Amino acid sequence: MRTRAAHDVNWREGKSAIYVFNAGDDVGAVKKAAYAMFSEENGLGPAAFPSLAQMEREVVDFGLSLLNAPDGAAGAMTSGGTDSIVMAMKAARDYARAQGRGGAFNIVIPASAHPAFDKGAMLMDIEVRRAALKDYLADPAAIEAAMDAQTILIVGSAPCFPYGLIDPIEALSALALRKGAWLHVDACVGGYLAPFVRMNGADLPVFDFSAPGVSSISGDLHKYGYASKGASTVFFRSEALKAHMPFDAGPWPLGRMITPTLAGTRPGRGDRGGVGGDEFPGRRRLSRQAEDGDGRPRGDRGGGEGAGLCRAGRAALGHPGVQSSQGGCVRAAGGAASEGLDYRRAAGAQGAAPDADAGAS
Ligand SMILES: Cc1ncc(COP(=O)(O)O)c(C=O)c1O
Repeated sequence: MRTRAAHDVNWREGKSAIYVFNAGDDVGAVKKAAYAMFSEENGLGPAAFPSLAQMEREVVDFGLSLLNAPDGAAGAMTSGGTDSIVMAMKAARDYARAQGRGGAFNIVIPASAHPAFDKGAMLMDIEVRRAALKDYLADPAAIEAAMDAQTILIVGSAPCFPYGLIDPIEALSALALRKGAWLHVDACVGGYLAPFVRMNGADLPVFDFSAPGVSSISGDLHKYGYASKGASTVFFRSEALKAHMPFDAGPWPLGRMITPTLAGTRPGRGDRGGVGGDEFPGRRRLSRQAEDGDGRPRGDRGGGEGAGLCRAGRAALGHPGVQSSQGGCVRAAGGAASEGLDYRRAAGAQGAAPDADAGAS
């Protein structure tokens, strides 16, 4: 199998700014051992495996504490950022229905929001309205202009993947409160990074539940939580909002099967374990970043300038926003560059990825 990987990007030596979030060999060893320990158990059965249910609660509690969640907030583990986003959208839709709203719904999201929202909207037959950005950031005025009585959800990213910038979550929160809309913050990249960057003294804008209009947040464990692939979290301001997330098919010959997220079977994945303690894989990596000084992952320490790139906006977190020094803005990381400049090549990735290879993780 290793031979087959000979032409894969050499992420172990830092040749990939995306796809792999490498916390180093020591953290990798802990997470692999922990994952293997529970790889056969099934998260579908919390009663059969109370150990998994307990570990999930610990992961969720840890995430909520990082994101300044109020008392009564709740959450769940999912298989990835897309899963978390789709489940937040489902909760927002079912919440709207529970309020007596009906008809064709829409969501209004910034142009930079992740395509996972389009995927969820396609599955749920919801219209997506993308609002223009202002200085690479979500523009609350443009979002408001695109909203109407059928808007069930608006979105801000912390940070967005294309530019690595945190949207003005406080202004979006005020808009959500004024309009009675559900605001989801997509912190798939920043959820387990930004809190530590802030703890290390960086001046980051508000992006979490401390903005009162934020109803839900997605945060990926398999990105800067440094867990193995297939792990994310989705959080809700209250248990009452989260109650709209699970899927309940009603009566069935075998009983009533209620699943919290999109998946049925969920791997036990012991790397969720010990999250509240020093064993949490990401914690060691993140505190090491603290020792490095500014809390940013090593991959975000400049570079690229020699390849004709410079930063777009105020880079805040792990995915640096870049633009060509000629002025045209390009994607920050991953995917085909929007103006002909392939960031992955500039960043030293080996070979060109196929066009379809545009995801992040
Ligand atoms: C901001 C953001 N949201 C959502 C996602 C989707 O996450 P996943 O690939 O885990 O489904 C990504 C992936 O890179 C992302 O960067």
